[in-house]
Amino acid sequence: MNLLKTISNRHSPRSFSSIEVEKEKLDLIFEAARWAPSSFNNQPWRFFVANKNENLNFYNDIINCLTGFNKSWADTAPILIVTVVKTTFDHNNLPNKYAFHDLGLAVGNMLNQATALGLYMHQMAGIEHDKIAKLLNLLSEYKPVTVIALGYLGKIEDLPADIQKVENEKQRVRKQLSEIINYSPLN
Ligand SMILES: Cc1cc2nc3c(=O)[nH]c(=O)nc-3n(C[C@H](O)[C@H](O)[C@H](O)COP(=O)(O)O)c2cc1C
Repeated sequence: MNLLKTISNRHSPRSFSSIEVEKEKLDLIFEAARWAPSSFNNQPWRFFVANKNENLNFYNDIINCLTGFNKSWADTAPILIVTVVKTTFDHNNLPNKYAFHDLGLAVGNMLNQATALGLYMHQMAGIEHDKIAKLLNLLSEYKPVTVIALGYLGKIEDLPADIQKVENEKQRVRKQLSEIINYSPLN
């Protein structure tokens, strides 16, 4: 038995090709997000999309909200997506404790769909959250969570030297199953 290819082939690159992401593919990635499960089916995920070729001003405004290291590689991506979460339920306005969880499920679906389409995504928490909230004119119950770089894979050689080094030296490591699974209560 093998892992799904969309899981095993996925990784988070820092070099993207300038090749446009087809509109049909982008739509399909968001369609995948749409069908994620969520607490009370509240669907608390929201996305703001900046296409470098179509709206460079908005794209650059988002780049300016990234912190240090991310600023120096993310602008190779043709598409930036800001993920936003609605932190209250639609039906009673009470806090939705599962909103971030549900956004994660939606992004998980997007990762699978993007990988199946030959595309790559790199999520970033290294962003200035308050600045992005202001840029997007978000109401207080909406919180920006990440910015995602999306596109086809680019060449590592096209990156600045320091980031090439990080990319060439990075190792994809994971905790062992025994570290994350318990079959009985803790002692
Ligand atoms: C919520 C989240 C935030 C992340 N933030 C950043 C970031 O700010 N900058 C960055 O270079 N990578 C960021 N990453 C990428 C992780 O470092 C990466 O997913 C992890 O090292 C595993 O590598 P892989 O995605 O290639 O399997 C983030 C990933 C996630 C899921």
